[in-house]
Amino acid sequence: MICARPNYPLVDTMDTRTVVLVSLVLLSWRSGATALANCPAGCSCNDDTLVVVCEESRLDVLPIALNPSIQRLIIRNNKIKTIDSSMQFYAELQHLDLSHNHLVNIPTNSFAYQRKLQELHLNNNKISSITNTTFRGLNSLTVLNVKRNYLEELNNGVFTTLPRLEELNLGQNSISRIEPGAFAGLTALRILYLDDNQLSSVPTPSFSLLGSLAELHVGLNAFSSLPDDAFAGLNRLTVLDLNGAGLSNISENAFRGLPGLRSLNLLGNRLNVVPTQQLSGLTRLEELYIGQNDFLELESHSFKGLKNLKLLDITGATLLERVQKGAFEDNVNLETVILANNKKLSVIEDCTLLGLPKLKHVSLRDNAIVTLSETIFIGKELRQLDLNDNPIECDCHMRWLQELLNEKSNFTQIQCASPDNLKDKYLKTLNAEDLGCIVHDTRQQTIICVVVVVSVATFAAIILMLYRCRKSMPEKLKDYKWNKGRKNLEYHKPISTEEDCIVRGIHPSQYPAPPPHTPSLRTIPVTEL
Ligand SMILES: *[C@@H]1O[C@H](CO)[C@@H](O)[C@H](O)[C@H]1NC(C)=O
Ligand SMILES: *[C@@H]1O[C@H](CO)[C@@H](O)[C@H](O)[C@H]1NC(C)=O
Ligand SMILES: *[C@@H]1O[C@H](CO)[C@@H](O)[C@H](O)[C@H]1NC(C)=O
Repeated sequence: MICARPNYPLVDTMDTRTVVLVSLVLLSWRSGATALANCPAGCSCNDDTLVVVCEESRLDVLPIALNPSIQRLIIRNNKIKTIDSSMQFYAELQHLDLSHNHLVNIPTNSFAYQRKLQELHLNNNKISSITNTTFRGLNSLTVLNVKRNYLEELNNGVFTTLPRLEELNLGQNSISRIEPGAFAGLTALRILYLDDNQLSSVPTPSFSLLGSLAELHVGLNAFSSLPDDAFAGLNRLTVLDLNGAGLSNISENAFRGLPGLRSLNLLGNRLNVVPTQQLSGLTRLEELYIGQNDFLELESHSFKGLKNLKLLDITGATLLERVQKGAFEDNVNLETVILANNKKLSVIEDCTLLGLPKLKHVSLRDNAIVTLSETIFIGKELRQLDLNDNPIECDCHMRWLQELLNEKSNFTQIQCASPDNLKDKYLKTLNAEDLGCIVHDTRQQTIICVVVVVSVATFAAIILMLYRCRKSMPEKLKDYKWNKGRKNLEYHKPISTEEDCIVRGIHPSQYPAPPPHTPSLRTIPVTEL
């Protein structure tokens, strides 16, 4: 057999026509006729940048006569069915994209000469199996994308030839079985996608070989529950995505052994309570997404232990009705709270967001909130507040918010849903009278107060005199002491929500200055309690 590069194992598998063509092409290069390098119709070939792009060019085989020095070859959206021997001529490739083709399988040793290849994109094909020879030769590969193919299982050692691989995408396949040694050799792997497959349990045994893994995406499988130590071995994991994993039950120690976890996504599962205890060991956690679950309320201390939490996102929890006071009490580093699209959420108890000194962004968008108490948060620190799409009732209870909106220009506008005469009006534009707050003339009020106080005092003095005349001295003393004690007791009884908030350990300096028209708020020094 005549060939410019003998000893290629693949040549044996070529048909004669291809061999002749290859030989002709190679001969023409040999004679210095690089200009003969053929750029197929519909492709663009750049000999300076060494990039060839064939998008939707209806190719059904790999082009054979490209410049052999090309470094990037993009053949997306064509009809390539297999990787044939032409591949061997492109040994300088660093980036190969064969996504959106009709690849069914990848013959043994297809990439034996791509020792410089760093990225291989095979996503959106019809590949149904890979073996321990499929990726042989790809010593430099750092990114392998096999997303959206027809893989059903991963056998031991399929990736052993990829010592530099950092990112592996196996999402959107039909994988139902992963052997314990499937990830052997992937010592550099940092990101793994296994989402949207058909796994019925977490493939825990296979994780022990992934000591460098930082991100794991395993959502959209049908786990139903997480056992203890489900992610054992993933000591370096920082991001865990369990979005839509079918979880209704998480065992108490499911997340044990994840000391560095920063981001956890539990969106779209079937949890009917917040897994408070299960999460409590994740002390480094900074982001938690737990919307679209089935819990009815957030109890106080729902997220205990998560003292580094910065972002909490509860979106689309259709059954959530109430957020109890103290729900976020342990999360003093919260910066962003998103409680949005929770169609039944109408009660956010007083003080819920108070005592969170770093809180900057709050979204309460598209819930069923009718009214909000001023003590819910400290408006001063907030940069963004979104209350859009709630059935807000614009009455005097919302006066504080109207004032806040006028201070903060970039808060989203809030439209009133009721009463009827204020429907669709913007809260910001309303005044105290519109909101039905009764504003007295203060001077008149003072005079009335003085008159009342003087009359009461006079009346009391008369009663006291009459009373004294009736009693003997020792009895008088006894009565006096009893009354004094009673009075003191009454004085110490917490009477308002502000005092309840202080009981939670919030320093009075964190309170907003009371706006002029809200009579009930006063700052209480801690010593007074
Ligand atoms: C590849 O897998 C086959 C079985 O599928 C096995 O016999 C062979 O030893 C494996 N080769 C390597 C290098 O692991
Ligand atoms: C959750 O799982 C545990 C054991 O795995 C079991 O005892 C418990 O009943 C389950 N709870 C629910 C609500 O399924
Ligand atoms: C909103 O305004 C505040 C200052 O009032 C600013 O610090 C913040 O960055 C602004 N946010 C946006 C989203 O513009």
